[in-house]
Amino acid sequence: MAGLIPQDFIDDLVARADIVEVIGRRVQLKKAGREFKACCPFHDEKTPSFTVSPSKGFYHCFGCGAHGTAVGFLMEFDHMSFVEAIENLANSMGVEVPRNESDRPARRYDELFDLMSRVERFWQQGLRENPQAVEYLKQRGIDGSTAKRFGLGYAVDAWSAVLDKFGTSPEAIDRLLAAGLVIRKDNGGHYDRFRDRIMFPIRDVRGRCIAFGGRAMGGGEPKYLNSPETVLFHKGRELYGLHEARQALRQIDRFVVVEGYMDVVALARHGIDFSVATLGTATTADHLNRLFRLTENIDFCFDGDRAGKQAAWRALETALPHIREGRQARFVFLPDGQDPDSYVNAHGADAFIRALDDGLALSDYLIAELAQQVDLDTVDGRARLAELAKPLVARIPQGVYRELLIESLAQTVGLTAGKLEKVLGRTQAAGHDQSVRRRPRRGPSLTGSAGKPSVVRRAITLLLNHPEAAAGLDVEKIAGLSRPGIDLLRDLIETAQQEPNITTAGLLERWRHDEQGRHLGKLAAVEVPGDEEFDPAAELADCLGQLALAGRRERIDFLIEKQRVNALDESEMTELRQLR
Ligand code: UTP
Ligand code: MN
Repeated sequence: MAGLIPQDFIDDLVARADIVEVIGRRVQLKKAGREFKACCPFHDEKTPSFTVSPSKGFYHCFGCGAHGTAVGFLMEFDHMSFVEAIENLANSMGVEVPRNESDRPARRYDELFDLMSRVERFWQQGLRENPQAVEYLKQRGIDGSTAKRFGLGYAVDAWSAVLDKFGTSPEAIDRLLAAGLVIRKDNGGHYDRFRDRIMFPIRDVRGRCIAFGGRAMGGGEPKYLNSPETVLFHKGRELYGLHEARQALRQIDRFVVVEGYMDVVALARHGIDFSVATLGTATTADHLNRLFRLTENIDFCFDGDRAGKQAAWRALETALPHIREGRQARFVFLPDGQDPDSYVNAHGADAFIRALDDGLALSDYLIAELAQQVDLDTVDGRARLAELAKPLVARIPQGVYRELLIESLAQTVGLTAGKLEKVLGRTQAAGHDQSVRRRPRRGPSLTGSAGKPSVVRRAITLLLNHPEAAAGLDVEKIAGLSRPGIDLLRDLIETAQQEPNITTAGLLERWRHDEQGRHLGKLAAVEVPGDEEFDPAAELADCLGQLALAGRRERIDFLIEKQRVNALDESEMTELRQLR
């Protein structure tokens, strides 16, 4: 029975399920912009109108209206029951479905989180007890309070310190394996993954430890060892230091993205609390979405070596679709052989900030980098530059920023902006993003034909499409109001606030067994503008504001009417005075 599987398990599973993989194993998908397309498996068609959105965790067919989550897909396509679908997903992700109290829920998320925090403390104790490790950190300029802020620890040089302490039963060993803390030997035994390393806890937005990075103290190999991907940890999503930055700063004016754990910690030691590091991966769109939600200014400061320059260029490519006026992305290049850690230790915080302020704006970096690849003194070279720029410019959302970039490019290649735009335009017409955007919109739409949608409906649609936008909302604003759907809206907001990582799919699954669930599915399929020029959080806040205002007016009318017919009691009088 569904009720026996804990809701938080289902939430996490749905959030982590890769809907593209689940559907892609059964239907051939083709990438189209941010989404994937196929001929709909649920009705007969020649041109693909079946769309899968990895970010929403949701599929939708514009032809027949079929829609749902990964769970829903398994139920429809493979005719599984709800429980079978959950089990199937869990199985493919290597987790067990916890059933009820008497079952052994070996890998429940909360148990894993708990284990991580106990191991974290164990290693922190290990640091206190190991003078050499403390000395290592001191030599690298890290003081006690910085070490404490980041929860740094030390894993001793032993094969079974963690295993002996936390792996005292088969279930406990299972948990250690699931958390990526121990490794299974071929002969069935186990050993600690992290040995003789300085340990950096990696935290999620809520500050829970989800993984570790371990720095070898001496010349040990590899220099950094990270937790493997686990049910708690997905490298491409997390940013080291993000939680700590949010703790330290009330207002985040900028972020600087660096390459290493040590860079983040060293910068913090010098009072620069706004740095985050990718975890041994390139900067991903997920990373940028997270950061741009918190600030408009992102500086990329990678190491001053070839790998660092490559990483910067890849970051530029990833950043292009996120750029628009108001947002700044800058690229900072340290002298060769330096990284933020060594730079800040050698020159101090002010010099580092100056280096950031001197960084190249994305547009300048883009042009400078391409200009290096051609000979600008020749006509051929200039034409080639325009060619190289084409696919990059095509990825920038239409708007002032793009216009300005085209203007600078035009200057560089010696064309008028108009002429250059014609050259660039030809690619855009053929480009993916463009063709996706121009697809005629079918299905329900926010400004739909059936008259003006209600504010509640609009708010619910926004929230389903951008659950993260609920974070700063004040539900109190609409407390006590009554109109169709408003209770549902309140519930959705509260759920999204309690579960900051919940996805569109996660919300739909929460309401699967609810009468309202069917309507939510339709609203989730509404196309809400993407992240260009569109701030879902502000839109949502605006909806709540409108509702609150309308509610206030209604209440005033009600009280005035009551005053006319009847008398108001004292508290109603006060209320009316305050409302007016
Ligand atoms: P770097 O090699 O630039 O190290 O790796 P660093 O940050 O300067 O570290 P220190 O100063 O030598 O201690 C940058 C990042 O790349 C990942 C880690 O995330 C590291 O922080 N990395 C590096 C690994 O995952 N494994 C490695 O072996 C090396
Ligand atoms: Mn370094």
